[in-house]
Amino acid sequence: MRKGLLTFATVGLLATGSLAACGDDSGGNDQAGSGQTAKIGVILPDSKSSARWEGADRKFLEEAFKAADVQYDIQNAQGDKTQFQTIADQMITSGVTVLMIVNLDSGTGKAVLDKAKSQGVATIDYDRLTLGGSAEYYVSFDNVAVGKLQGEGLVKCLTDKNVKSPAVAYLNGSPTDNNATLFKSGYDSVLKPKFDSKEYTKAADDAVPDWDNAQAATIFEQQLTKTGGKIDGVLAANDGLGNAAISILKKNKLNGRVPVTGQDATPEGLQNILAGDQCMTVYKAVKEEAKAASDLAIGLAKGERKETGQTVKDPEGGRDVPSVLLTPKAIYKETVKDVIADGYVTKDEVCTEAYAKLCTDAGIS
Ligand code: BGC
Repeated sequence: MRKGLLTFATVGLLATGSLAACGDDSGGNDQAGSGQTAKIGVILPDSKSSARWEGADRKFLEEAFKAADVQYDIQNAQGDKTQFQTIADQMITSGVTVLMIVNLDSGTGKAVLDKAKSQGVATIDYDRLTLGGSAEYYVSFDNVAVGKLQGEGLVKCLTDKNVKSPAVAYLNGSPTDNNATLFKSGYDSVLKPKFDSKEYTKAADDAVPDWDNAQAATIFEQQLTKTGGKIDGVLAANDGLGNAAISILKKNKLNGRVPVTGQDATPEGLQNILAGDQCMTVYKAVKEEAKAASDLAIGLAKGERKETGQTVKDPEGGRDVPSVLLTPKAIYKETVKDVIADGYVTKDEVCTEAYAKLCTDAGIS
């Protein structure tokens, strides 16, 4: 308690001191009555593991910060851990009052969070929990629920296709991303009982380092070779990994016959669904995630500790981290239109020339 008060006192001093010199680069003004200026730094992880980071998170975070009239600085570490730390150092030096990170792994994430804290900068784990970390808040989706939707989606698509005794391959997310562990525990909760009862067989189970889409294609090609082409369904942890699997299925003329899952409702993922090459995706309303994180960040900048009404246990640090966990939604061909109606992606992004007819057929007007 005491420590918290002291930390926020330091935040105030740092903020007033440095902002006088740094100027207003991204809009925003003083927080009325607080005597402090909020400046929020955000470090996104990369732009290749998913289209969401630059396509959705940047946009919706900007929108939320602009609406709240606070200064912000959003940068992308482009998958480089050294760069991640350099950006964090620069942001701390430039006087951010709150730092929000999507870690590239828990080790470097923790180093950044601890350093920020030691400089009186409050922190938020955005989307990915930093294990053993020290963030004031964790804002994400219920990631076990994301995995459950993927597992249930694959079961539904295999059932719809009337596949008997299906052999399922897993393309899991990065072993360094706690979310990948949570997604897997979600789809395992649906699929493991089926493997155990021999209703399904598990053909392959591989993690994709750093969610690297190119590596995912190589890994999936090896899975297909090793099993002699006997893969009936692919549990791919996100749309990028799903698209990698689809590219190899296409090469083998198996696309459309083998259901593939995904996540993030990216324009490419939605197109794959419309084409019948991908069975489903999981839509996470990033706009809500960005708004929740922005509200908490603005509170922290004012020295407030808003109640989230929920905590998540950090399995490594043993801490109960105050959290906001939003609800994901499964998307199938019939509901692709909902993602567009929600303003997450535009019709123009999804319904390009090659997909125009499929869009009309799916009721996207
Ligand atoms: C996010 C996913 C994303 C993946 C790869 C995860 O931590 O929750 O939405 O697809 O990282 O960037």
